[in-house]
Amino acid sequence: MRMYDIITKKKHGEELTESEIRDFVREYTRGALPDYQASALMMAIYFRGMTDRETSALTMAMAESGDILDLSSFGTLTVDKHSTGGVGDKTTLIVAPIAASVGCKVAKMSGRGLGHTGGTVDKLESFPGYDTGLSAEDFFRQVEKVGIAVIGQSGSFAPADKKLYALRDVTATVDSIPLITSSIMSKQLAAGSHSIVLDVKCGSGGFMKTPEDAERLAVGMVNIGKLCGRNIAALITNMDTPLGYAIGNSLEVREAIEVLSGKGPEDLREVCVELAVAMVRLALGLSEGEARERVLSSLEGGEALRTLKVWIAAQGGDASYIDNPELFPKSRIIHKVYSTESGYVARIDAEAVGTASVTLGAGRAEKDEPIDHAAGITLYAKPGDKVEKGELLALLHTDRDEAVKAAESAVLKAITISDEAPEKKPLIYKIVG
Ligand code: URA
Repeated sequence: MRMYDIITKKKHGEELTESEIRDFVREYTRGALPDYQASALMMAIYFRGMTDRETSALTMAMAESGDILDLSSFGTLTVDKHSTGGVGDKTTLIVAPIAASVGCKVAKMSGRGLGHTGGTVDKLESFPGYDTGLSAEDFFRQVEKVGIAVIGQSGSFAPADKKLYALRDVTATVDSIPLITSSIMSKQLAAGSHSIVLDVKCGSGGFMKTPEDAERLAVGMVNIGKLCGRNIAALITNMDTPLGYAIGNSLEVREAIEVLSGKGPEDLREVCVELAVAMVRLALGLSEGEARERVLSSLEGGEALRTLKVWIAAQGGDASYIDNPELFPKSRIIHKVYSTESGYVARIDAEAVGTASVTLGAGRAEKDEPIDHAAGITLYAKPGDKVEKGELLALLHTDRDEAVKAAESAVLKAITISDEAPEKKPLIYKIVG
């Protein structure tokens, strides 16, 4: 294989063969190709796209780049949920314990922050001691014993995606339908769950900006899942506005604990209930009504919160933070942002808020850069709210003095205030599959 030829072929928009795709994935995974050539190919794919055949070949090659977990001993109880990425998207921390608490087996592989979006692994590492790198055996044992395990890609699953994901994060090649499809579905296939619920985020804060693109992505992923014998559905959900009020790792963990404690923001709770209903319905073979009843009773009865504690402790994390969220470290600077006008909040641009939180330290600008778990943004308004000039709109949490001014202007620019109340947009656009 000459990598130069593969890049040239894709640059000209030609279809790559399965063996070219497999060669690329194998050689890059074993460290025989430099990042600059892999980046060039990612950029060529970004601009030229891939056919369905190429996307399936890339997905399978990435899934087979490491171990494939056999969870068949759990029968059909295993379920995973994966989001295409959003701002303030802490849904895994809520839906995974709900599903486990009603008898599903949640065996999940999550990612780190990507571009302007956050990642579950970074959020979970807000708990001191939480181990995101369990071996396949420990992962399996924990799913059996506790009903839930969530790991990162430090283990042996889909190592090709682990490398490509980190590369795409810093080369502006995330928002590509074939690259997202292969990234998510390779992990899903490797992690082995029988049922899969995909949360395809649509809007400014997602990687798919339009309902048409979101649906194309959802249908493509559902088709690959079905071809591989999985029980799969995708929810297309609104990501024009950050989900909930908290953006940034430990801030989001705290908000997730609030929802599991029967409080928390309404939009976050609603999206989580719908995702959890889909997970429970697929994994336990229930009607939608029965699944909803179980999800709501777990949330309201505190079962899901108890399961969160057992899960975090089982993976080595300090679960006392769940009862005492004040233990999470705080930023040195907590800067208040006030409204410069009166009116209705017409829009909060999720991508702009996500990018601002990265500059405060909640995400990465370079591969493998450490993140600041306390950094981020707390919003104090939602679209539709009436605000007065001088009213508090947001808190910026950071240790970076030099980032505050620019983040403040970015947040003010992201929040559009108008004389008229905006039209309310749906939170769930569509369910595919
Ligand atoms: N989530 C993933 O796992 N991969 C992507 O490419 C985007 C979101």
